[in-house]
Amino acid sequence: MRKIKALVTAGPTREYLDPIRYLSNASSGRTGLSVARALKKRGVSVRLVLGPGVDAPRGIPGFRAGSARDMFGLVKRNFEWCDVFISCAAVADYRPDTVSRKKIKKTSASRTLKLVPNPDILREMGRRKGGRFLAGFALEDSGGFNEARRKMKLKNCDLMVLNGPDTVDADRISAALLSPDRKPLKLGKMSKEKFAQKLCQEILSSLKPSKNM
Ligand code: CTP
Repeated sequence: MRKIKALVTAGPTREYLDPIRYLSNASSGRTGLSVARALKKRGVSVRLVLGPGVDAPRGIPGFRAGSARDMFGLVKRNFEWCDVFISCAAVADYRPDTVSRKKIKKTSASRTLKLVPNPDILREMGRRKGGRFLAGFALEDSGGFNEARRKMKLKNCDLMVLNGPDTVDADRISAALLSPDRKPLKLGKMSKEKFAQKLCQEILSSLKPSKNM
């Protein structure tokens, strides 16, 4: 039996306005790193695509991304390789329309920042998923289950983790696991390590046995 191969994204992305300033979010990457470690412990071969400030654990190959578009490129490059794609990263939905090559000087006038949409990495990979298993995270502060279900369908995922804003940059996570054909599995508040073990168990037991795996 060959090893299962999992590609995991983790952490924030940075969208630069000028050489110094950027738009980002408070993601620490802890969930993605915990998931990568838990998979490795279960004998899965893992590759990580990491946002700025997040480092790969020893023994797991990591690919460094800056912006959402960088992350998209790295995911595309590693997608062919994987059987499972787990999109834990907090990808910025927008980037500044223009990036100044020089530091933007202040004036007394107010400014408007024009933002343009970034690619939705998980949705794009959902379009080309083939026989792969895809899992995503829906971060919701209201309307949780319906939104998570909507995103699971939109992004062609086999599993969607519903979690709230209190998860971001925290040690613990309170989440529910949704899949297209089952009732949601509500998990209590627990450490991200414990959560990652449960998520991996769920994913690995859902994988359809194939002659190649
Ligand atoms: N995601 C992605 N690329 C983006 C935005 C999100 O790959 N540009 C992925 C995330 O990694 C996550 C899932 O899509 O697995 C859902 O992300 P979330 O922020 O909850 O939802 P969005 O689709 O961005 O929608 P909204 O921000 O409007 O809730």
